[in-house]
Amino acid sequence: MRGQLWLKLLLLIVMVGSLAMLGGCSAMVTAEPGDAITLDEPFRPQYHVSVPQMWANDPNGLVFYDGEYHLFYQHNPDDVVWGPMHWGHAVSADMVNWTHLPIALYPDELGTIFSGSAVIDWDNTAGFGEEAMVAVFTHNDDGRQMQSVAYSTDKGRTWTKVAGNPVLEPPKNIRNFRDPKVFWYETAGGAGHWVMAVSGGNIILFFTSPDLLHWESSGGFGLTHGATCGVWETPDLFPLPIDGGPGTRWVLAVAIGGCAPAGGSGVQYFVGDFDGLTFTSDNDKDTILWADFGADFYAPQSWSEAPDGRRLWLAWLNNWAYAQDIPTSTWRGSFSVPRELALVTTADGVRLTQQPIAELQQLRGEHWQWRDEVIGPDANLLADVSGETLEIMAEFAIDDLNEADRFGFRVRTGDDESTTIGYATKARTLYVDRAQSGDVAFSPGFGAAHTAAMEPVDGLIRLHVLIDSSSVEVFGNDGRVVFSERIFPAGDSLGLELFLDGQQVTLNALDIWQLEPATFRVDDL
Ligand code: FRU
Repeated sequence: MRGQLWLKLLLLIVMVGSLAMLGGCSAMVTAEPGDAITLDEPFRPQYHVSVPQMWANDPNGLVFYDGEYHLFYQHNPDDVVWGPMHWGHAVSADMVNWTHLPIALYPDELGTIFSGSAVIDWDNTAGFGEEAMVAVFTHNDDGRQMQSVAYSTDKGRTWTKVAGNPVLEPPKNIRNFRDPKVFWYETAGGAGHWVMAVSGGNIILFFTSPDLLHWESSGGFGLTHGATCGVWETPDLFPLPIDGGPGTRWVLAVAIGGCAPAGGSGVQYFVGDFDGLTFTSDNDKDTILWADFGADFYAPQSWSEAPDGRRLWLAWLNNWAYAQDIPTSTWRGSFSVPRELALVTTADGVRLTQQPIAELQQLRGEHWQWRDEVIGPDANLLADVSGETLEIMAEFAIDDLNEADRFGFRVRTGDDESTTIGYATKARTLYVDRAQSGDVAFSPGFGAAHTAAMEPVDGLIRLHVLIDSSSVEVFGNDGRVVFSERIFPAGDSLGLELFLDGQQVTLNALDIWQLEPATFRVDDL
């Protein structure tokens, strides 16, 4: 009897104990009320990751490790404008639902923490410990820029800066020297070395290292190639199969501080070869390739170590021309949806395509669909569809280009407001017009139309559109032409229209989904 009573008491203690522990654990992953981001402030994205409070710009240190996609980012925790930079931090198992973690890197006596990248040092080349996560970033000391290293052996939760920082001083006469992208380059026989691509003004400089700590110059690319009318920033460099393989080319993506097609800052890319030391372009010096024709896609970075050989990137969904003036109050900074990259052969040469990651499909809710409709000018196909967060996939056939002058969608429509996503059949251009998209007054030039050439493919125009509370992303013809745009419509501008200027257009297929909010938790910021 007594024995049984003790056993029962013991069981009770164990149960209460484990419940308490469970409570403790679940507080880590399931935020208590007050800890969760409510997503109800004006313009707060419902499924794009955004900074919980204060300021964010570039994504940094994107790396996948042990089931988690890490997103570090440029962060000022003390203000809603740019300031002393830290690395903010969030993790996700699927790049859709995110948990915000405490700040990873703080400014120190060497300066503030500018952009950079992260790798897993599988072979412990640096001697930081087994499978250390290593961040290589720019220390900015009042404009003097140098590269430094920090590491974590607890899955990016806590970081140690290396005593020998900076590991790379600026070369003579180079003032802008920042945003190192580091990766392992494998050579024959399983050997290899680390490579750093780092911006040096209007040039990307390359360095190699056996251990992430000692770096030697190995080449440079730029100065006279591509667009050079702004400072080059945040390089990324990776190989991609052409048309699914087996051929491969290297892509060098470079953000540029001005003169992008939609005005202000934007992203160009080069297709070519990287031999382990330096990059050469397949195209002549005057070829300029833009990754995005909207105004709000900057400083993209791709994940190191992404599983299944995928090349995935996201960008800061903003533009330096007005980033500090956008009409959000307690937070300022959000990111594009993650996109899967590919190279395809086109009539003009090998080009980069971007498609929203398939993982986003988990957010699809209510679904509307149409097939084989001939749309006349007065059709009002979408009268019953509305929403703040929508996904649209449409395929139009335009074999007879005279039938319609323009067609497309008006999204987030309301009183005197709408953002137009259209195709101009004669000009053969895709465009996004945000002149009447809502609040445009905070910056001259914000309320404009942005245009890009886009030929039909086999007589078809395909549009894939993602609408969130303050953004529109448009992927034309399977991601060959992309627009990323911020918009600031009234909360009740929720309408959607299919429009046509001209006689008719054939709509082969149209699918629209309501998108549910993603889950964003805050883990003890
Ligand atoms: C790009 C950039 C980087 C720099 C960082 C500073 O947006 O200017 O070149 O490292 O932002 O926050």
